[in-house]
Amino acid sequence: MVKPKILVARQVFPEVLEHLRQHFDVDDNQADTVLGVDGLQARLADKDGVLSSVADPITAEVIAAAPKLRAVCNFAVGHNNIDLAACTRAGVMATNTPGVLDDTTADLAWALLMSSARRLPAAERWLRAGQWQGWQFIQWLGSDVHHATLGILGMGRIGQALARRALGFDMKVIYHNRSHLPAEKEAACKATWVDKETLLREADFLVLLLPYSPQTHHTIGEKELAQMKPTAHLINVARGGIVDDVALISALRQGRLSGAGIDVFEGEPAFNPGFLELDNVTLTPHIGSSSHNTRLAMAMRAADNLIEALAGRRPPNLLNPDVLR
Ligand code: DGY
Repeated sequence: MVKPKILVARQVFPEVLEHLRQHFDVDDNQADTVLGVDGLQARLADKDGVLSSVADPITAEVIAAAPKLRAVCNFAVGHNNIDLAACTRAGVMATNTPGVLDDTTADLAWALLMSSARRLPAAERWLRAGQWQGWQFIQWLGSDVHHATLGILGMGRIGQALARRALGFDMKVIYHNRSHLPAEKEAACKATWVDKETLLREADFLVLLLPYSPQTHHTIGEKELAQMKPTAHLINVARGGIVDDVALISALRQGRLSGAGIDVFEGEPAFNPGFLELDNVTLTPHIGSSSHNTRLAMAMRAADNLIEALAGRRPPNLLNPDVLR
């Protein structure tokens, strides 16, 4: 029997390819070349499906150049790299990987929060540069995390996992989301819904966990930063573009915000070089879900979505159910 042809757009673990090869004729990209629109158009011309990452633009042009394409399966929970409307118009199913990366991403948000509070990167750079001449009582003073107020903007599964971590630090947890969590979920993580202004005004640590869309572009800009406490810290593990990076850099530079932990950038992998001049920011290269076990689980989930979709069944994490109509 002729197997459906698929592209695995980025490097994945060998066991994922092995799993996929049992079902498909696989074109892999173990060299991990960034394919971009042109590369994807060329490689998808004869493919039935693709396993894609957040860095692969599955645009309307890419979809138009792939007449046999039936499924786009992202190995990520975010899917702003996929033009969902174009997929639906072309009869292509699109999927993501919710659920498997919540705790790992919450761990990274927590690490950035702690790092920003206690100024770890700057203190480490200072020590490595041989500047430590002796212990001093008033030196490298940071902010307390325990008993502080954690504000969460976007209270999905990752937000709730983060709120549970805050319980061990005796924090007050407030959140803002379009909808309130059901009472039992709020009780489980001791989180209270507040309006956005209250969240900005009261949070000592504001963590962003919103999906990116044109509607969430620059949710945190000049105006919002001005509403925050000058002692507060901002943590973004969601998506670049949710924060206006120019406004953030200016607030950090002028001491209108104490610190920031940033894993995602506008226009990444490029980022505003102004960040590099700041000592009150912890920078990481979009590694929120990057633990071995979680990345393997994400790839396997994406593979299983692709197997279901190309077998003509509804994949478990279908993003555009309208395509089935
Ligand atoms: C996601 O899943 O959306 C992450 O940002 C990529 O790991």
